[in-house]
Order: sequence, then structure tokens, then C-alpha cells
Amino acid sequence: MCGIIGIIGTRDAAPRLVEGLRRLEYRGYDSAGVATLINGHIDRRRAEGKLLNLDAKLRENPLPGIVGIGHTRWATHGGPTENNAHPHATPRVAVVHNGIIENYQELKDELIAHGHAFESATDTEVIVHLVTHYLNQGMTPVDAASASFKRFTGAFALVLIFAGEHDLMIGARHGTPLAVGYGEGEMYLASDAFALAPLTNRICYLEDGDWVVMTRERCTVHDATDTVVDRPVKTTAVSGALIGKDGYRHYMLKEIYEQPQVIGDTLNSYINPETARVTLPDLPFDISRATRLTIVACGTAYYAGLVAKYWFETLARLPVDIDIASEFRYREAPLPEGGVALFISQSGETLDTLEALRYCKRQGQKILSVVNVPESTIARESDAVLMTLAGPEIGVASTKAFTTQLTTLACLAVSVAHARGAISTERMQEIARALREVPARAAEVLAHDERLKELAAEVSEARDVLYLGRGAMYPLALEGALKLKEISYIHAEGYAAGELKHGPIALIDDSVPVIVLVPSDGLFEKVVSNVQEVCARSGKVLLLADSKGIDKLKDKVRWSVELPACDPLVAPLLYAIPVQLLAYHTAVLKGTDVDQPRNLAKSVTVE
Ligand code: M6R
Repeated sequence: MCGIIGIIGTRDAAPRLVEGLRRLEYRGYDSAGVATLINGHIDRRRAEGKLLNLDAKLRENPLPGIVGIGHTRWATHGGPTENNAHPHATPRVAVVHNGIIENYQELKDELIAHGHAFESATDTEVIVHLVTHYLNQGMTPVDAASASFKRFTGAFALVLIFAGEHDLMIGARHGTPLAVGYGEGEMYLASDAFALAPLTNRICYLEDGDWVVMTRERCTVHDATDTVVDRPVKTTAVSGALIGKDGYRHYMLKEIYEQPQVIGDTLNSYINPETARVTLPDLPFDISRATRLTIVACGTAYYAGLVAKYWFETLARLPVDIDIASEFRYREAPLPEGGVALFISQSGETLDTLEALRYCKRQGQKILSVVNVPESTIARESDAVLMTLAGPEIGVASTKAFTTQLTTLACLAVSVAHARGAISTERMQEIARALREVPARAAEVLAHDERLKELAAEVSEARDVLYLGRGAMYPLALEGALKLKEISYIHAEGYAAGELKHGPIALIDDSVPVIVLVPSDGLFEKVVSNVQEVCARSGKVLLLADSKGIDKLKDKVRWSVELPACDPLVAPLLYAIPVQLLAYHTAVLKGTDVDQPRNLAKSVTVE
């Protein structure tokens, strides 16, 4: 998603803006740009594609100036061209913007009628024209900005600089995050604290509706009603060092390999190793008394929620409704009186998930979230938060965030199951011990990396790939297919193995790899039958199973990878790893941009 940064400083801004943008690259983008004030005039450099291209332009044609704004753009309205890249500017004002101005067409028509000429296909350009319109009417920059903010609908975070104003920068947050950084005689604004970490660790996270007027020495925060408010300034622990790849070729591979460690870290915060009891932090409401749980999330986080549904229903006997956020938020779902709604998000900023959370809040639900970023909006708007301790995830394809979400959700489900009397203390301890074994077992699974790399050569030749699983392995099939699609661009679908005969079996022939996830659990024999159905139609099956499954099916299937035997409850955590590695190696063979796949953004803060 777009990344924005602004500096009102005491030394050259452009190189520091680009450094900040580099730290926002992980969000995904397809063009970039910076603007500074030079002798009171706005000047800009913009480029299509990666920051390398912007860097080259700045080397060729440097941009001095100590006040500036920078942007990485993930195209929404208008293609990823230089002309559509931010900053957008008139001779009087420049802007960088994340989000969408939904009523831009109406504003654009109005401004064209006033004689404004537009040069891009973006919604963003209306911002600078509207502010300029008010400036032309004689308003001060602060009044012009504030009057403009009131006219925009949609979600946005933006930063403005003004020609002739060397000690002024204005920012606004409406539905999309924006953080203020306090420096020594300098002030900053950015999409997140990570971008500002080399500049300062003193950060203020703006609330929704806030807008700020900044000089080098002070920052005045106004809330949505224009009242001046105090917002706390926190010292963050975000490191100023760029997160490195530690010798790995891609962040994604590094993050896959971090899983034994981060699953262990997450378990350590929820399981007491001495008593083998799951102990969650005290929640301000009793989830075990809920009559129904509503789970909402997007993408990979949604698949983690689907696994959790399985756990909550089978272990805790707690009925679960689950939906993807973009559907749920407009469905006006009736929710149970005093119910609990659970939101899962790595970034904690996914707009659809956040809006679904707000809907549930308005319906009087207690809000629990599982997030990876403690300062995120979803975390801050929840009644209670369970953290995943994955650490920063930079690769756009979610890997360690997924398995730490599963870890956290497993602990939650077990704790609720015990509190509801649905499982005994002994069973809780048995599961807790199985969970504590996962980091070691995950390391064993990683040892199959070379074998999965060989198999990726087969998968990379395919046009279509199917993933099959049952029960808690069905969401893993969906996740495997999503991983392959998003980074290798090969068409892949996940199906519930039992659903195969209702349609997808027509796709089976010897050119379609079928990846089957089948641990030894209560559904094992059922999946074995489904595998036979595929093999009988010349399907070439890659079996991911433990020794029992391999023994039973090795003569039928084309390829197999033996995974450790485990308590079926923890199998989703282990079976996630081979599908991640398979997708990773396939993408490398296809030569795609593994960490920043085309068209994708790390955190999706637009609808
Ligand atoms: O930050 P979130 O967990 O809310 O993000 C949700 C999805 O956008 C995300 O999981 C997406 O599907 C990943 N790219 C999948 O790898």
C-alpha cells in the first residue's frame, strides 16, 4: 500500500526521504516520488517502478531543500505511470496521499468549472487543486487545508507542503494511519514508525479524524471537530537499522526459516512451561461465556481464522461464524447480544477488517483481535489484543505471521475449551505439550527444503495446480494455493477434498499437479479415498503426509514428502511450511519478484 513521509528539517530532505521510502518498500508499490521546497518553490522528481529509478533521477538532477515529502504509490485510480506518481502539486501546494478520495470526480468537476486544469488520472490530484482554490480565495494555508479536509470522503492519510512556507507542514489522518515523529529541531510525518526509525524514536500515533499543523519546533494536533488535543508521544522500540535478509536471498525465505523461533516466542507468552497450562492475559470480558463467536479477517489471516473455527467448534464446542471482511462489513449481519467478535490481522491496518471491527463495535460486540503490530489501529480500537510475536514481516506473502496467528489461536481455543469444561485439564496439558513441540518439529520440516525445491521444478511447469485437504487441512489447502498464486502467478485452487467430486475432479489430468495435505487424523481414510479418485484419473499427486499416509499411498502417488507425526491439532502449523517452501521455490524458478509480487501490497488500507 502507499507509503508517505514528510520532513520539516534542518538539512537536506531528499536523501532522507528516499531512505524513509526504502523502509516503506515492504508495503508494495509501483511508482515513487519526492518534492521539496527550493527557495520557496515546489520542485519534484517522480519515477515509475522501483526506488532505483527515482534514485537515478535524483542523481541526474538533485533536489536540494530542507522541507519535503515523499511517496511510494500503489496504483488505485490511474495506472502506475510517472504522471500519476505522487507528490501531486500546483505552484502553491504539494501533497502525498495514501487512501482514496471517493468523491474526487464530483470535486474535480467543480474545480474544472473554476478553471483548474488536471494533469493526472488520480483521485489525489483534487487535493492540491481544492487547497489551491481556497488559497486563491485568500485563506491561510491552515484554513485552506482544514476546509479541504472537510470536503473529502473516503479513507486518506496525507501530508501537504506549501510554496513560500519554509516552516509549515500539514498532515491529516482519516481512516488510514499516520504517525508524527519528534526530532531535534525537526518534525516528521510518516505512514508508520518504521519509516521514521533512523530519524527519531519519539512517535505520536494520530487518532482517526486528527489533523496536524507542524513547524520545526511544534506540532499542534486537532481532532475531527477541530479542537486542539493532546496525543501521547511514545518511545518506540522500532530499530533504526534496516531489517536485513541475514544472508537469505529473499525476505520470504528468511521469514519461513524464522518460524521455529517465532512460534516458540509466541508459545512462551501463552503457555506456562512448568505447568503446561495455557495462560492467556486477563481479558476484560469472558469469551468462554459467549454463545457464538464471529471471526473476521482477510487473505491469509482469514485462513488462520478458518482453522480456528475448526478448533473452537471441535475442541471448545463454541459455534463460530466466519467471513472475509470485505463481505462481512456490508452484510449488516445480525450479531448476538453481548457477543464476541475476533479480528485477525498481521498489519492491524487492513481497512476492510478495521471497518468490520467498527461495525461489530457499533453492534455492541466485545472486540478481541490477534495482531502482529501492537501500535496498529486494529490493536488500538480493540477491547483486548492477543499479540503474535512474529516480528516484522517484510515479504508480501505472509508466512511467519500465519503460523504465529495459528499458534495464538490454538492457545486461545484450548483455553476457552478448558474454561467451558469442554476438555479436561489433562487434555489441555497434552495439547500444550504438543504445541511446545512444534518449534522442533517445524525445524524438521524445514529440512525438506531441498526436496521441495526439486518438486518446485515440476510445479513451475504447470498451468494449474490444485490443493486438497479436509477439516483443518482445508484452510491449509486454500493457503497453499494463495501462496502459489500470489508469488509465482500460477493459477492454483484449494478445495475441500470431499468437494472434488462435485465439480473440480473434471480438471484432473496428467498435467495438473494435485497437492494433498493429509496428516493422520480422524479424516485420514476419507482423504485416502479422495487421493485414489484422483490417481484413478491419471492425476499426479504430491502427497504431504506423515509415515502412515506415505506407507498407505506411496505406490499410488507421483511424489511424497514425509512430515513428522503429530497431534492432529497442531498439524496445521507444520503443514503450512511445505506449501510455503513449494510456492517460494516455484516463484524463484519462474523468476518473479518474490518479496514484492506484482499488483500486491503488504498492508491493504484501501477498499
Ligand atoms: O495485514 P493483514 O493480515 O490484515 O493482511 C490480510 C491480507 O491482505 C494478507 O494476509 C494477504 O492475503 C497476504 N498477502 C497473503 O500472503
